[in-house]
This record gives sequence, structure tokens and C-alpha cells, in this order.
Amino acid sequence: MTASESLGKDLLGLEQLSSDQIRLILDTAEPFKEISERAIKKVPTLRGSTIVNLFFEASTRTRISFEFAEKRLSADTVNVASSGSSVSKGETLVDTARNLEAMRIDMVVIRHGASGAARFLAERIESNVINAGDGTHEHPTQGLLDMLTLRDRFGKLAGLKVCICGDVLHSRVARSNIWGLKKMGAEVAVCGPRSLLPNAIDDFGVTVFDHIEDGIQWADALNILRLQLERMHSGYIPSLREYNRVFGVSRERLARAPKDLLILHPGPMNRGVEIDSDVADGPHSVILNQVTNGVAVRMAVLYLLAGGRPELAEAAKGGGGR
Ligand code: CP
Repeated sequence: MTASESLGKDLLGLEQLSSDQIRLILDTAEPFKEISERAIKKVPTLRGSTIVNLFFEASTRTRISFEFAEKRLSADTVNVASSGSSVSKGETLVDTARNLEAMRIDMVVIRHGASGAARFLAERIESNVINAGDGTHEHPTQGLLDMLTLRDRFGKLAGLKVCICGDVLHSRVARSNIWGLKKMGAEVAVCGPRSLLPNAIDDFGVTVFDHIEDGIQWADALNILRLQLERMHSGYIPSLREYNRVFGVSRERLARAPKDLLILHPGPMNRGVEIDSDVADGPHSVILNQVTNGVAVRMAVLYLLAGGRPELAEAAKGGGGR
């Protein structure tokens, strides 16, 4: 696969990527992991590129991780939030991006509350667009970093049993994980109250568990989702306490599993709701490994979209490669 055909112009979701493209990103991330372990965490690979991070929704991990990835590749970066920009005066998303393009930018990383916002923008500007989470649609770099973390631990994705637990209905992370993991040959299940599963869940080709105990019996790994209370405008669950009692992942429940399960969570966590603290901080949790891998995955995506040649990613650590 050559650089020009590797990913195309944009990264909008994992639904439209092939297994070869997903593998390419994960393999390209491997050599980039080491850069973050150096005393001087910087290579000149994207020197001269200008990247705008448009974050119109709250974010800690994704925004900072993209910014670290960009800076470690020596790109020039600008951060734009809706508050403090002319978006708060009513300027449209496309007008904002076109004005930024008039200042000669190369890439836009966008997080937006509306599903489809990243594609909408990508179809209207020439810069590369990376979806950093759009509404309840997709969060492709989160799906990729989850897969990289699973591959680190199990050495493979094919045949792995991953149960995605909790608020699947509102979760772009769940959608990106389902598309990505299935393409890579993993078996995927979801588990949560029916009120928090999409009506069309049967169309996703996943197993559905109504009881968390059944998901725990079946899985090699649990990816536990945050209850997205800010997107719940009616009574999806009786109470947080009731949710924790019926669906919370606790040490006691995991102790009844036939094997040790790897524990993932995309963050931010509601401790004591979907996950208990002794699980989040326990010996089988890779939640902070996910965060570490996020930087390498985002470096790989930036590198490939900028035209970096996959086979030269190792050399790019020293500065060459494009
Ligand atoms: N996982 C994730 O997207 O976290 P942030 O909302 O903090 O970016």
C-alpha cells in the first residue's frame, strides 16, 4: 500500500476503513510509541505543517493527546474552542474552517456535538480532516487506540472476545470499536439496559447480553462505557445507584469470571457508577495504557494523512520519512 492510497484525504470513521488500513495505522503507531519515552520527545517529521484543533465539545484526553502528537512531530498547532471564537457570535463551522484555510493550514482535527460534522467539513475544505468525535457517530482514533491496547496485551485481535458495556446508545466510542474490531476479526458483544442500546443493535452484527454477569463469563476484555448523562434528556435508567447495582463492573463480579479480564474504559469515568474504583485501578486495568497509546496512534494518523510512507515510519522517528 503506497502513501497516497493508504488512508485517503481524511479520517472520518472506522466504518469506511478496510482491515488493511486499520492494520496500517496500528503498525505505523508502533515505532512512534518510543518517541514519547525519550527525554526530548520531538522529531522534525511534520515540520512546516500547520494543524488546527477545533474542539467544539469538552475534551481532556483527545484534545491534549492530539496536541502532544502534533508537537512531538514538530507541526505548528492552533487550538480553537467555540467559546472565545467567533462561533459564539454565530459564525458557521464551514466559515470558520474556510477562514482558517485562508491563513494556509494543512489539517483540521475536529470534535463536534453533531453527528456527521466531520464529514460535512471534510467535503467542504481542502485540508485533511480528522474526526476527534462527532456526536454519537464515531470516534475513530479512540477505536484505534483501544485496538492497539488490546493487541499489545493479547498479541492479536482476530478471535478476541470484547464486550462493550454500558451506554452504547450515546457512544461514538462503541460504534468505532464495533466497526474496527469486527473488521479485524474480533468477536464483539454489547451489554447494557435495553434503554441504552440502539434500536437497530441487531444490524451491528454483535452479540447482545442483558446481564453483565453473562458478558463477564463470555469475554476476554471489557470496554466499559461512561453513562453519558449530558446526552440523556429523559429517564433512561431509574437511578445511578440502581445502574451500578445491576450493570456496574465490580471486583466481586469479576471474581466470578472464568479468567482474568482485561479492563478498558475510554474515559472520563463515572467511578462507582459503570466501574468501581478497585476495578479501574486494579491489576487488569489498561485504562492509562489506552491514554499512552492515544498519542502514538494520533502521531501515526497525522503522519499517514500528511503523506508519510508507512514503510518509512521507523526512519521518520529520526526525522525523514515523508
Ligand atoms: N476518550 C475521550 O474521548 O476522552 P475526552 O472526552 O476527554 O477527549
